[in-house]
Amino acid sequence: MKFRFSIIAMGILAAACSQKEYPNETIGIIPQPQVVNYTGEGRFNVAEATVSYDAKFDDLSIGHVADFARMLSGALKKDVIAEEGLQKTGIRFILDRKYQPEQYTIDIKTDKLTVTAATASGVLYAINSISQLLPDAYFGVEQEAPDWTLREVFINDWPRFAYRGMHLDVARHFFGVDVVKKYLDVMAFHKINRFHWHLTDDQGWRIEIKKYPRLTEVGSMRDETVILKRFDPLVCDGTPYGGYYTQEQIREVVDYAEKLGITVVPEIDLPGHMIAALTAYPELGCTGGPYKVWPRWGVANEVLCPGKEKTFEFIEGVLDEVMQLFPSEYIHIGGDECPKVEWEKCPDCQKRIAELGLKTDDNHTAEQYLQNYVTARVQKYLNDHGRKIIGWDEILEGNLAEGATVMSWRGAKGGIEAAKNGFDAIMTPGGYLYFDYYQSEDEAKEPFAICCPCTIEKTYSFEAYDQIPEDAQKHILGVQANLWTEYVATEPHLFYMVLPRMDALSELQWCYPERKDYERFKADVGRMLRIYDALGYTYSRNIYGEPGLPGFDGPLGDAK
Ligand code: ACM
Ligand code: ZN
Repeated sequence: MKFRFSIIAMGILAAACSQKEYPNETIGIIPQPQVVNYTGEGRFNVAEATVSYDAKFDDLSIGHVADFARMLSGALKKDVIAEEGLQKTGIRFILDRKYQPEQYTIDIKTDKLTVTAATASGVLYAINSISQLLPDAYFGVEQEAPDWTLREVFINDWPRFAYRGMHLDVARHFFGVDVVKKYLDVMAFHKINRFHWHLTDDQGWRIEIKKYPRLTEVGSMRDETVILKRFDPLVCDGTPYGGYYTQEQIREVVDYAEKLGITVVPEIDLPGHMIAALTAYPELGCTGGPYKVWPRWGVANEVLCPGKEKTFEFIEGVLDEVMQLFPSEYIHIGGDECPKVEWEKCPDCQKRIAELGLKTDDNHTAEQYLQNYVTARVQKYLNDHGRKIIGWDEILEGNLAEGATVMSWRGAKGGIEAAKNGFDAIMTPGGYLYFDYYQSEDEAKEPFAICCPCTIEKTYSFEAYDQIPEDAQKHILGVQANLWTEYVATEPHLFYMVLPRMDALSELQWCYPERKDYERFKADVGRMLRIYDALGYTYSRNIYGEPGLPGFDGPLGDAK
């Protein structure tokens, strides 16, 4: 309710600020700001400006202003100092606690550029927006005669959705802290504020848990990896592969993200997708193993055994440390793709089913209800510790306890069903927001990918409220895109898959539908690609009819 109220309040504020003679316009910023009023023809010269800020700002906000001044110093080849205490002219940062947490305004007049915000996120987002109005020289590109002047304009901006997520799977392929930070940087540049970190899966356990050291000693390594496309018969590369984050590294990432206004939402995927953990602790499975960290992709039948109490002791032990490391209100507990074949045969699981009185009915099997039991028990444990769960949309099958948030990935239907039934939902439907799908229809030119084309235009066409009744729309917390990394093993490939589709994502998350316009967006993406070039990010140019990544020969070797 609070969020909806804030939208209405902001609408009033926006209306008050947009005077009749200055209609709402577009500007070359992604995501497109809510209100853009060109207020005159005069220009403000950034190259001549001082930078000053309200002394009441917190250290983080001041840090963003100082970073901005440093960027200007580098680009202008002179010292630009962020000075405490507001000046009357120049670039000025004002604190106004009445603003919403992520809102900012930018008011450009001929003698001053005034940013107003309530929080460090507001300040950062304003700087990100301003940077997109500045010449490429701001990003370190050598330019003959960059134009540092900006036209008089008033921008009032705030997000449509509170949850604006981007996911990264580090289990199938591992990416070190430096790559993760670079990922967070580009997320923040798009005003994305949730990093869904998929830390565990059949192919590797990537987070150090002190109570269960074998998770990383054993579970973070696989003997080898399936060679591209060679599933039948299975052909593997014979090369051991692994990696994990120490708790210190996890803290470093959480801290880095927090400074960028990003909350890290960790995922411990359970009760399926657990072979890496079972390899380390075989007693947690139905058969007792032996198990082997999976070298291939797909859905494994071996899962945690909910018939045994020590399985819950394990889950709680892991989550205790996860909660210490991640301040996020939400902990993602997975719940997707959990085959029940082992549970059907397992005496411990069947005993649990009998004790709980779970029965197969017309809609679900007793084993599906057993998964509900796991979800509810873990949910209660986390709730008792002040946290909430997010789960993939499979958690809706059977009975889902109140307070769970559903992440809709098998299309939008899970999110629609969740919202209609009073559950919060996050939309991340495969066809639109799975960035492991091909960037273009010309698959032969693309790095091998898990599925079909998901062009940026397709991504852009997604609307989170489609088929959501008006009174249920408050349950749509936001939108997220996912990058699964079965076929993505290197940093250039990783950024190639997410960029510039992340630009489209950011407009789905930030903009109201009436601010979206594909032709305008397509033109604005050109500037973003130049920024990616300047900052060393790979990306697809398929939006301009140029599919493929020249010179890229596949991450895992081609086995045709
Ligand atoms: C998923 O893509 N298995 C959530
Ligand atoms: Zn079992």
